[in-house]
Amino acid sequence: MSDLRFDGRVAIITGAGGGLGRAHALELARRGAMVLVNDIGQSPGPDGTLSSAAQRVVDEIIAVGGQAAVNVDSVSTPEGGLAIVDAALTAFGRVDILVNNAGILRDKAFHKMDSAMIDAVIDVHLKGALYVTQPAFRLMREQGYGRIVSTSSASGLFGNFGQANYGAAKAGLAGLTRVLALEGVGHGVCANAIAPIAATQMTHGILGDLADKVSPDSVSPLVAYLAHEDCAVNGHVYSVAGGRVARIFVAETVGVVLPQNTAEGVRDHLEMIDQVDILGCHQPSSLDDETTIIAKALSEVS
Ligand code: NAI
Repeated sequence: MSDLRFDGRVAIITGAGGGLGRAHALELARRGAMVLVNDIGQSPGPDGTLSSAAQRVVDEIIAVGGQAAVNVDSVSTPEGGLAIVDAALTAFGRVDILVNNAGILRDKAFHKMDSAMIDAVIDVHLKGALYVTQPAFRLMREQGYGRIVSTSSASGLFGNFGQANYGAAKAGLAGLTRVLALEGVGHGVCANAIAPIAATQMTHGILGDLADKVSPDSVSPLVAYLAHEDCAVNGHVYSVAGGRVARIFVAETVGVVLPQNTAEGVRDHLEMIDQVDILGCHQPSSLDDETTIIAKALSEVS
C-alpha cells in the first residue's frame, strides 16, 4: 500500500507553536502538506530570546524543505477565526484540512472557579473551534472536500476534577464533531476528534512515569490519518496516547419503558435502566437514529 501523502493539500493547525500542534504541523508538512501554523504564543529560541512560537515552527518546516506560513491571530473571536482561514487562502489558495488544537487551562475546583476562568477556557476551546471551523467548513462544503480534526479530551468525556470549564468545552468539541459529521457528509467533509494524552507544557509535571512514553509526535499519526483523503470514518472520537489508539463512543443501554412513569417508577427500575450489556447497547449515529430506537421500544409495548 502507498504512503499517505498530502501533496497539494493545505492544512490549518491552530495552537501549533508547540506541543501537539507543532508535532501535527511537522508530520503533515513532512508528508507534503502546505501548513498554516497558527499560534498566539511566544517561545524561547536557542539564545533564550522570545519570539513568535508559530514562526519558529514555520522555520523548522522550511528548514527541512517543507512549505508553511505563519499566523498569530487568536482563535477565540469570530474575527480571529476568519483571519486564520483568510491567511491560509492568501498563502496557499485553498483549505483542505483544519486541526482544532489551540488550548489553555484555568483549573480550579468548581466552587472556587470565577467567571473569567470559565470565559477564557470556553472562548479558546469551544468558541475558538466554532469560530475557526465555520469559515473553513463553508469553503470545504463549497469545494466538496474537507477534513476536520478537533481536539477533545478525556476530561470532558470521562470527567476530571478541577476542570469544569475545560471538561465542558472539550465535551462540546465531541458534540461539534458529531454535528459536523452529519452536516458535512454529503459534501465530502469528514469531521473526527481525538482525546490525546501527551507530554507537553500543558501536562508538565503531572504525567509521572507515563510522560516518557507519550510524546506529542506519538499522537500525530492518528491526526494525519484522520486528515487524509483516505480517512474512512466520520464523527468518531479516538483516545490516543503513545501509539495506542482506541475508539470512544456514546452508547445507550437497552432501557425500560416504565409501567408507571413516575419518580417512584424510575427509582424502582433504576437497575434495569442503568444496566450496561455492551453487546445489547445501541449506538445511535444521530438524533434521528436515536428517535427511531425510542419509537421502536415504545411500539413493542403498545
Ligand atoms: P500546549 O500548551 O503545548 O499547546 C497549546 C497551544 O495553543 C499553545 O502553543 C498556545 O500558545 C496556543 N494557544 C492558546 N490560546 C490560543 C489562541 N487563543 N489562539 C491560538 N493559539 C492559542 O498544549 P498541548 O498539550 O499541546 O495541547 C494541545 C491541545 O490538546 C489542547 O487543545 C489541549 O487541551 C489538548 N489536550 C492535551 C492533552 C495533553 O495530554 N497534552 C490532553 C487532552 C487534550
